[in-house]
Amino acid sequence: MADKKASENIVWHSGQVTYEDRCALLNQKGVVLWFTGLSGSGKSTIAVEVEQRLITSGKLAYRLDGDNVRHGLNADLGFSTADRDENIRRIAEIAVLFKDAGLITLVSFISPFRKMRQFARERAGSAHFIEIYVKADVETCASRDPKGLYKKAQNGEISDFTGVSSPYEAPEQAEIVLDTARFSVEVCVEQVIEYLNNR
Ligand SMILES: Nc1ncnc2c1ncn2[C@@H]1O[C@H](COP(=O)(O)OP(=O)(O)O)[C@@H](O)[C@H]1O
Ligand SMILES: [Mg+2]
Repeated sequence: MADKKASENIVWHSGQVTYEDRCALLNQKGVVLWFTGLSGSGKSTIAVEVEQRLITSGKLAYRLDGDNVRHGLNADLGFSTADRDENIRRIAEIAVLFKDAGLITLVSFISPFRKMRQFARERAGSAHFIEIYVKADVETCASRDPKGLYKKAQNGEISDFTGVSSPYEAPEQAEIVLDTARFSVEVCVEQVIEYLNNR
């Protein structure tokens, strides 16, 4: 977390264009769709499809994906608890900027800790934050193992692997729960789109 002293002489400079102005221009509401779940639960797969569906229906969406962001902005961070918190803190701040720009912002990161998801919710404002629990048990995720990471974690080649050697704190009040162990990608994508249409 940033040193509080660093911001003492920095004063917020407001512009003239508001969040509401940008939303009106785009004819949509800027929101954060925060996908959380174990590695291999289906966050990226579903977020990619939802983004495509939104764009096809004329809504401006933008996806921030864990692995992609770790190649760039967060390339300096590892998987210790402190680094995971900083990873999510930066992502939350970026997501809030995109949301504020009026975009439907899809965030797909494991984000295992409740405290940091709560931080993201507070920064976005609860009215603009939709937590999506991509739910699949660790056995299901390990059997999918799309990136071969569970195999490596079980062989001790990766430390601090969520669900294996690092905890995952499941959401208690997610706006949407997607049971990907039971339902297909198509059904889960539809569930998200329907939720958005009903809001
Ligand atoms: N209902 C479902 N939703 C999402 N992915 C599913 C579903 N059922 C099976 N899968 C498969 O599970 C894997 C999920 O991988 P991925 O989306 O990369 O997970 P994550 O981004 O959560 O690490 C993919 O191979 C996908 O095809
Ligand atoms: Mg992913």
